[in-house]
Amino acid sequence: MTDKPRLRICLIGSGFMGKAHAFGYTTAARVFDLPFALEFHTLVDINETAAQKAADALGFAHAATDWKAAVTDPGIDLVSITAPNALHKEMALAAIAAGKHVYCEKPLAPLASDAREMAEAAEAAGVRTQVGFNYLSNPMIALAREMIASGELGDILGYRGLHAEDYMADASGPFTFRHDPAGGGALADIGSHALATAEFLMGPAAGPIEKVMGDCVTMIGARPDGKGGMRKVEVDDIGRAFLRFANGATG
Ligand SMILES: NC(=O)c1ccc[n+]([C@@H]2O[C@H](COP(=O)([O-])OP(=O)(O)OC[C@H]3O[C@@H](n4cnc5c(N)ncnc54)[C@H](O)[C@@H]3O)[C@@H](O)[C@H]2O)c1
Repeated sequence: MTDKPRLRICLIGSGFMGKAHAFGYTTAARVFDLPFALEFHTLVDINETAAQKAADALGFAHAATDWKAAVTDPGIDLVSITAPNALHKEMALAAIAAGKHVYCEKPLAPLASDAREMAEAAEAAGVRTQVGFNYLSNPMIALAREMIASGELGDILGYRGLHAEDYMADASGPFTFRHDPAGGGALADIGSHALATAEFLMGPAAGPIEKVMGDCVTMIGARPDGKGGMRKVEVDDIGRAFLRFANGATG
């Protein structure tokens, strides 16, 4: 038994990142001397069977399908959002309004103005937040940032970043939430990692990104819809950009 205060977790989504969040909470509690005792309270998935199966496998006491009820449950302190991108904003704002701390996966929202609204709501409510920019927590990236910030590498005049994944390369791959115009596309999905890394590394030395010239293209214009037909893809599967940082460095 512990006398630490409890932090009762609600995890939304039990796919790839749902498992990753559960893995993180499980490992953190075993490796670090946390100020809280983590309680795996409720796992929510839209699919009831998946919710129950994941709750059992990952150690959550309750399984649920209604995220709206879960995020306002007074028995919950923290909401982890690993549902498809288009749902992040609504889920996060509801959780913040209910006074919960929020760990939301990237991309926070399809538009910067939406993400700003989420950040401002969290600040006004005084809750703690975290975004799933996991690469920024990699010690190697932290060291690179320190080396850049300290001047050890001299003046940084240019930045080149590449985040390449091939999960959209197969034209027979099905239409998923990553192709949904409301929050999908390569720029939002993995471009968000690339841009977060660029600002994290360059920020202290070069300031934020101030100008952007970019292009997004759709290489695979239709994908199997899972019902025997094809569905048009209207989001990018490749995005490229030229950047200008505040101090004039380019990327
Ligand atoms: N930080 C990272 O490196 C990283 C990596 C992969 C994915 N992600 C992000 O994590 C999120 C999920 O990606 P994923 O790969 O785990 O997808 P996934 O398809 O494996 O999982 C999504 C889950 O959400 C559930 N879901 C869908 N609608 C729901 C609803 N209305 N209520 C509750 N649950 C619902 C699905 O049933 C599924 O279990 C995305 O936002 C993605 O951008 C982040």
